[in-house]
Amino acid sequence: AKPSAKPPVIWLELGGCTGNSISLDNAVNPTLYQLLFDMIDLRYHWLLNAAQGAPVIDLLYDTVEREAGNFWLIVEGAVMTAADGKFDILFIDRRDQAVTGLAAVRAMAPKAKYIIAVGDCACYGGPSAAYPNPGGAKGVGKVVSQTVINIPGCPAHPDWITGTLTHLLLYGMPQLDAYNRPKMFFGKTVHELCQRRQQFEDGIFADFPGDDGCLYKVGCKGPVTHADCPLRQWNHYVNWPVKAGTPCIGCASPYFPDGLMPFYNY
Ligand code: SF4
Ligand code: F3S
Repeated sequence: AKPSAKPPVIWLELGGCTGNSISLDNAVNPTLYQLLFDMIDLRYHWLLNAAQGAPVIDLLYDTVEREAGNFWLIVEGAVMTAADGKFDILFIDRRDQAVTGLAAVRAMAPKAKYIIAVGDCACYGGPSAAYPNPGGAKGVGKVVSQTVINIPGCPAHPDWITGTLTHLLLYGMPQLDAYNRPKMFFGKTVHELCQRRQQFEDGIFADFPGDDGCLYKVGCKGPVTHADCPLRQWNHYVNWPVKAGTPCIGCASPYFPDGLMPFYNY
């Protein structure tokens, strides 16, 4: 089949909470509507599918087969690797076999043009991999050998998702850092960009969340977390954790959450 002008996209939801899909609903420029109708050809996404059952599975497999080398694979949620992936059954395939997230990712990744992990769980395991992690949750990059573009965050900011997809559409692969994150969004720490940075330098610290002053002594992880939240802000660009009086808990870090505990310190 002739490749479509808009890239065919398969979005798999594995071991996660669908929070990144919900976050994407909040996209402003482009909107979700523009993304779906003008930019990509979304073939499969279990929250957004207009149909269910066999027709959807047919479309999914037709895309993998006929658009091999052309479709983009977006993964949300961690890959559950324990018990051969049986902690996460995605769907029943055309041969009536239960397909795990682990099997689906391994089968589809080699055929995808780009693999994009959205949210901390898909990138690095995230909350799904928190101790004691009985399901063996891991980031996509740990189970496939292809390059995975990681867009972390819990959830990922809608701009981080749409911006990365736009870059892929217009210019191809964005520059990635050592954790395979697009540098354009994760090149600086929250601390470098924070509006309370001067208070940090001046030694003006908050004693409790909600107080004025730098939140470092309350447990802020801004100094060790790379993301542009202070400039970009959330919820249609109106607020972000420190501005709301709560320390950054490092939700975009590859080590979130276990490596950043305790979140609060007071
Ligand atoms: Fe850095 Fe956090 Fe203080 Fe902002 S509030 S200056 S990110 S330690
Ligand atoms: Fe997350 Fe810290 Fe940004 S908690 S939303 S990375 S300010």
